[in-house]
Amino acid sequence: MEIKEKIEDYNSSIDAADVSSEEALEAFRIQFLGSKNVLKDLYKELRNVPNEEKKDVGQAINALKKKAEEKFESAKKEKDNKAGTKKKFDLTRPAERVELGARHPLAVIRNEIIEIFSRIGFSVSEGPEIEDDWHNFSALNFPPEHPARDMQDTFFIEKNDHEMALRTHTSSVQVRVMESEDPPIRTISPGRVYRNEAISARAHCFFHQVEGLYIDKDVSFADLKQTLLYFAREMFGEKTEIRLRPSYFPFTEPSAEVDVSCSICQGEGCNVCKYTGWLEILGCGMVDPNVLEASGIDSKVYSGFAFGMGIERIAQLKYRVNDLRKYSENDIRFLKQFKSAY
Ligand code: PHE
Repeated sequence: MEIKEKIEDYNSSIDAADVSSEEALEAFRIQFLGSKNVLKDLYKELRNVPNEEKKDVGQAINALKKKAEEKFESAKKEKDNKAGTKKKFDLTRPAERVELGARHPLAVIRNEIIEIFSRIGFSVSEGPEIEDDWHNFSALNFPPEHPARDMQDTFFIEKNDHEMALRTHTSSVQVRVMESEDPPIRTISPGRVYRNEAISARAHCFFHQVEGLYIDKDVSFADLKQTLLYFAREMFGEKTEIRLRPSYFPFTEPSAEVDVSCSICQGEGCNVCKYTGWLEILGCGMVDPNVLEASGIDSKVYSGFAFGMGIERIAQLKYRVNDLRKYSENDIRFLKQFKSAY
């Protein structure tokens, strides 16, 4: 048979080929596109075609090949589509539920504290976690021999150099604010702090604080008390009472520790408040004049109060979490329980 006739022949058999079934399509592929396909023979025969016809015949074989490829591809696509709608996608199946994440409980409490204080005009300030001696201790009136300056309590960055440390409280941020702003100052500083403690259910080597600072002319202890009462009632409910006990901090004078009435037993006595009816939540006091002066604020003109609380402690009371380690273990079963507006 002449090569041209063969081309004609193949052309019509490609047209006529049945590719409707999986098997027929595969047979078609082997015949026209497989490694031993019939078109290869045609290319071989092309050698014997007289030169002046080579171009036309060559093109005709190419066209044949293209035709076979196109027929195969479109039949295959159609099959895949059908298989797709039949097997791969069940359009009637309900969509997978999108799980909403939950905020970390400490973030929830931090945001709530920020929200409560922002309603009475407190801004939020932040500062570095690696802090120098001046901002963490000296400017805050810590005497040189104070135990907090010891390796036992503080993580220093260099072994034999006590200049830089992980901040032990966010009072350091307040020093930075006092240095850079003029009174009136009304700010809270939330953040992570570090202390050299053995990790247990009740202590950790890091925790979170919110400290507050208010400096203006004629700020009194009564302002401090009223501010904390407002906070306690917003946080723990409007029937909450507070109680102040005298205490000592290097940076405040006078100083106090503050208890709130137990929101669990309403002061009746339970195991959370150890049958006292009171829960300790924060430390506070009037900013020591030495601290104001160290930051460049005239203590004869201005006075102020400061307070500081642990976020874990507040979270413990609100959520009754009795093991501090849970907050940093990233156990999803623990974390997903805290869905909140904050
Ligand atoms: N800085 C204190 C602490 O970390 C808390 C505090 C702040 C106490 C301000 C009084 C005034 O324990």
